[in-house]
Amino acid sequence: MSERPAVLFVCLGNICRSPLAEAAFRTEAERLGLDVEVDSAGTADWHTGKAPDPRARALAKAKGAPIDHLQARQIAPEDYRRFTHIFALDETNLADIRERAPADATAQIGLLLDCVPGREGQAVADPYYGDEAGFEVTWRDVSEAARALAQRFAER
Ligand code: 4NP
Repeated sequence: MSERPAVLFVCLGNICRSPLAEAAFRTEAERLGLDVEVDSAGTADWHTGKAPDPRARALAKAKGAPIDHLQARQIAPEDYRRFTHIFALDETNLADIRERAPADATAQIGLLLDCVPGREGQAVADPYYGDEAGFEVTWRDVSEAARALAQRFAER
């Protein structure tokens, strides 16, 4: 491996999907003993400084990967150089991330579920306006992606 991977997960608000993706991937990376930096951000700045959504926090705790300490932030121009990989949770996030990319961006930018064979092009659906069941679907999706991604980095 040439460069230490640094992975940024990006959704809209950085309070539901991307903190869960961060937690799931951190768990997998630790399990495989990967040396990797992990963070998350939102394309919007609406929740800057806030902890993740209580439903996401409760779920993460139940899954053994608490996210109570996280604070939402908006993606910034320096993220495009600091991170080697930026993963969008859905295609709108992907379009927004690409649109804001500075000219000197070096990160590989992609859709998260593209790393799961058979799920290419799919979105991790936004659970914000739904109920707890939607967050379980989010956890299933980000965990599946986290396993595939961690495996990919382990094989580099
Ligand atoms: P996230 O979910 O992008 O997965 O963090 C959302 C969080 C907040 C809002 C929408 C989606 N919002 O409209 O405030």
